[in-house]
Amino acid sequence: MSPQIAFLGAGNMASAIISGLLAVGFSPQQLSASDPSEEALERLRALGLSRVSTATDNLCHGADLLVAAVKPQVMAEALMSVSPQLSSATALFSIAAGIPISSLQSMAGASVPIVRCMPNTPAMIGQGASALFASESVTAAQRKIAEQLTNAVGFTVWVEQEELLDAVTAVSGSGPAYFFALIESISKAGTELGLSPEVSMSLTLHTALGAAELARQSDVPIGALRENVTSPGGTTEQALLALQAEGFDEIVAKAVHACADRARTLGEEFG
Ligand SMILES: NC(=O)c1ccc[n+]([C@@H]2O[C@H](COP(=O)([O-])OP(=O)(O)OC[C@H]3O[C@@H](n4cnc5c(N)ncnc54)[C@H](OP(=O)(O)O)[C@@H]3O)[C@@H](O)[C@H]2O)c1
Repeated sequence: MSPQIAFLGAGNMASAIISGLLAVGFSPQQLSASDPSEEALERLRALGLSRVSTATDNLCHGADLLVAAVKPQVMAEALMSVSPQLSSATALFSIAAGIPISSLQSMAGASVPIVRCMPNTPAMIGQGASALFASESVTAAQRKIAEQLTNAVGFTVWVEQEELLDAVTAVSGSGPAYFFALIESISKAGTELGLSPEVSMSLTLHTALGAAELARQSDVPIGALRENVTSPGGTTEQALLALQAEGFDEIVAKAVHACADRARTLGEEFG
């Protein structure tokens, strides 16, 4: 049977997921959405969706999954407007950072099965990395639909403890920004060595893409790939020694832990 998916909030993330679902063969008739912004709804109509509205009446009618894609600050208000329509037949799929299942449960209703998702922004181009955690009442069929949704915009992994979503936030949720920062730094250093900003950025970007793809396709552990390009006494060795002398591993670990700590605090604020 073709799953029906409703979207509460039709902003950036919802639009990316909807585009991904259409690209992997979902029909517009399987999708519906509600958003206060006419402009957001117009974008969905342009993708072929007809069941889009500023109102939330009947949004969840017949839906197997309700994707809550609003900002965390408005989640309670948004979910309360649809909670009378929710039951165990419609799983709630939340992509909001920080809001724990216990809070979502009190906003949506005690009988509602809940999947929490931590996506990342490359989902906008179908290259996302998402982690999912399901509450006990989520059925195998609902898990499958949740997975179809994140697979449509990239890679999916399940975690078995909700707390691990803080680690996911620290690795992949916020991860794109770490790589953007590294790309900016390398590219800037290239200009200091005389390359034009355009050439330096293009070389850096292609190197980042190539290195990630090589690591992904390789059977060799990433440490061995690094050693393979680090000849004793060579140029790469000098660069890596300079990074190590400044405590590169410690700096990165500190950043990732700081992110996880903040995710935990946000969770407590919303909890
Ligand atoms: N891990 C990540 O990298 C990541 C990335 C992006 C997003 N997220 C999560 O994804 C969620 C959505 O983010 P986004 O970037 O897509 O935000 P967004 O573009 O602002 O989209 C949210 C949409 O929800 C609408 N909205 C507000 N109140 C509503 C209500 N009561 N009912 C229905 N719709 C309502 C907003 O309309 P108005 O603009 O008119 O208020 C807006 O169109 C957030 O919770 C965020 O934490 C995570």
